Amino acid sequence: MMGGKIPVFEKIVDGAIRGILRDCQPRTLFVPAEYMLSLGGKRLRPLLTLMAADLFGKNAEEVLDAALAVEIFHNFSLVHDDLMDDADLRRGYPTVHKKWSDNSAILSGDALVIEAYKYIAKTPVSVLPVILDLFSTTAMEICQGQQYDMDFEQRFDVTEEEYIEMIRLKTAVLIGCALKIGAIIAGAPAADTDSLYKFGINIGLAFQLKDDLLDVYGDRETFGKKIGGDILCNKKTFLLIRSLKNANGVQREELYRWLTATDYNPDAKIRFVKNLYDELNLKFVVENLIEKYYLASLDCLSSVNVPDTRKRDLITLSENLMYREK
Ligand code: IPE
Ligand code: IPE
Ligand code: MG
Ligand code: MG
Ligand code: MG
Repeated sequence: MMGGKIPVFEKIVDGAIRGILRDCQPRTLFVPAEYMLSLGGKRLRPLLTLMAADLFGKNAEEVLDAALAVEIFHNFSLVHDDLMDDADLRRGYPTVHKKWSDNSAILSGDALVIEAYKYIAKTPVSVLPVILDLFSTTAMEICQGQQYDMDFEQRFDVTEEEYIEMIRLKTAVLIGCALKIGAIIAGAPAADTDSLYKFGINIGLAFQLKDDLLDVYGDRETFGKKIGGDILCNKKTFLLIRSLKNANGVQREELYRWLTATDYNPDAKIRFVKNLYDELNLKFVVENLIEKYYLASLDCLSSVNVPDTRKRDLITLSENLMYREK
């Protein structure tokens, strides 16, 4: 990604992640955890922590441990998420539970959560209680969001409001948290840490909507995940919820048949559902919704009381996220 300090911050984060859990025993526990961390990904959340701190003049090194805590926690959530979603591919490589085993994914995921807490505990004592509370609240919200995500697989009456609340919990709060942690450690005023959090929530909602789009319309090589995975799980994405609402009689009947089928050809199901999304013009609808949340995020960012010139990197980064292909 381009823009001012972003490449520098990326280098700092990458370098620091390399050493995590190295040499810990037994290797059977920690190799899968290290594997997950080493696969990279966008490193979006730790970057946001560094950038939020930078807004208020704090050096990257001083918030690095907290930034790493957020990224380690994110990686934990992906290891368990892939098990729950029965996903084979993550960042272009086999998922932990496929490469090793379900038990390995459970336990190496647990190890990652614990490691995340070790890193967040290194926060300067003056702000440790508030940071710990935010981190734990966020962690619990992600569990709540993930549970809704799974519960919704079984339901056909999920509303768009319920969907937005679910993705707020499973995805957006960690992005808000990453930003707010950086700002708090940097000593920012409460009004600004709150505005940044809201900025993160809106970016996060747009981010998950885009992820759901890429799950249907992305390119497997670039996106690094199986295309159509959400369709096979009957995930109640905005696309599917809106289809259930807007489909005509014939379309709806056929959609229900696919959603309730137990013995079917996966590629044929993906083809049918994608085709329905196209007929209902839903890619366009979701792109507009993404734009709406992106614009709302810029509003929140403009309330943060620092000169606009300092916000350029954050704007560049969030704009790139809206147009990302991975
Ligand atoms: C994946 O997050 C999970 C979602 C919230 C959609 P990212 O898209 O940030 O995954 P990586 O870390 O870049 O692989
Ligand atoms: C995952 O949402 C959110 C969390 C991991 C908490 P998804 O299930 O859509 O994420 P991907 O697409 O597998 O990365
Ligand atoms: Mg999931
Ligand atoms: Mg998933
Ligand atoms: Mg997804």
